[in-house]
Amino acid sequence: MSRSWIASLSAIILFPLSASAGDLRQDAAAVFQPIDPAAVAKQVKNNEITPAKVELGHKLFFDPRLSKSQLISCATCHNLSTGGVDAGPTSVGHAWQKGPRRAPSVLNSVFNGAQFWDGRAEDLKAQAKGPVQAGVEMANTPAAVEATLKSIPGYVGEFQKAFPGDVAPVSFDNMAKAIEAFESTLVTPNSRFDKFLKGDATALNDQEKKGLRLFMDKGCAGCHSGANVGGSGYFPFGVSEKPDEEIRPAADKGRSAVTKSSADDYAFRVAPLRNVALRAPYFHSGKVWTLEEAVTVMAKTQLGETLPAEDTAAIVAFLNTLTGDQPKVDYPVLPARTKDTPHPQY
Ligand code: HEM
Ligand code: HEM
Repeated sequence: MSRSWIASLSAIILFPLSASAGDLRQDAAAVFQPIDPAAVAKQVKNNEITPAKVELGHKLFFDPRLSKSQLISCATCHNLSTGGVDAGPTSVGHAWQKGPRRAPSVLNSVFNGAQFWDGRAEDLKAQAKGPVQAGVEMANTPAAVEATLKSIPGYVGEFQKAFPGDVAPVSFDNMAKAIEAFESTLVTPNSRFDKFLKGDATALNDQEKKGLRLFMDKGCAGCHSGANVGGSGYFPFGVSEKPDEEIRPAADKGRSAVTKSSADDYAFRVAPLRNVALRAPYFHSGKVWTLEEAVTVMAKTQLGETLPAEDTAAIVAFLNTLTGDQPKVDYPVLPARTKDTPHPQY
């Protein structure tokens, strides 16, 4: 693990992307891919995406009865009206407890190499079981969730439709699979950057083009690449210079808690930058409230550079072009509870 980030970092230093500088679009197309809704199916493993699963997952995502207090749904912290995140800095969950990290976006999360800031869940179905049980998030148990879902006939019917071959369709595992199916529809194609990548040279203005060129030549794209402009690979937050304690709190050592290797102390998954303009505050601590400051911090901590103000502004202008069409998601009407449905607990 640690060796792999050292190797990747050497590649950025030894072969800067500017070595191939020429046509901006061609250079960019070698590093990034447009968001392609048709590519979703092959991203999702062991869970065929069907309309019945997506519809069920849509309801579950918005259902606060999955939480112990029955006040908190996935959408509480992953608000689809605000880029798939809450207002920050870090999430507030069960009984007003403050979690240690900022909520990452659910938008385009299907294209990430792994889930969470430290990559500890391999995919969205593994991920979805976490928050429901986390004491500081929804504070529930798989057994209590299953009891709730089984007590609601509307859900029993939908689980049977979504998982037709299963002997026991209403299960915690199937809840996670349905949520994964719904989340895989939360993609944001057609950003101006995507239009540029696909050949529309007028989709970006001169300042945005300058920002894209800087993003590649300075080395940002050495880490933030691919369809999600990040979301894969782990690097220390503080390659060149340690970030301020407030931005990178000492207690959260990131990836090393997963790999159990101190070489990964303070390594985090490269943040995906799609729709980044919609979801300040930034970083896993949520302590940076503007993109200008986030870019300044990255240039210093990851590249050891202090950028001139006009370069920072150009990079920010480029980052603003990563906002795509937001999914149109209805607020679902949830199946009604019955006398057997467990009551909220605070
Ligand atoms: C991380 C989905 C509930 C706060 C994530 C990620 C996904 C997700 C897909 C990873 C995204 C990425 O790594 O880019 C869900 C679903 C939920 C749910 C499906 C409901 C079952 C919640 C709630 C809260 C919350 C209720 C707040 C109380 C967070 C935080 C992280 C996260 C803080 C980052 C944690 C870390 O990296 O250690 N969630 N979420 N989520 N979510 Fe949620
Ligand atoms: C996070 C931009 C260079 C690795 C971020 C964020 C932005 C950003 C805006 C915050 C995203 C969010 O909170 O959702 C840039 C720019 C760069 C650059 C403009 C060039 C000036 C790099 C490089 C690396 C890197 C070279 C790898 C060596 C990361 C990591 C995070 C991150 C690991 C997550 C940090 C955390 O909160 O734990 N980047 N980045 N970045 N970037 Fe960069």
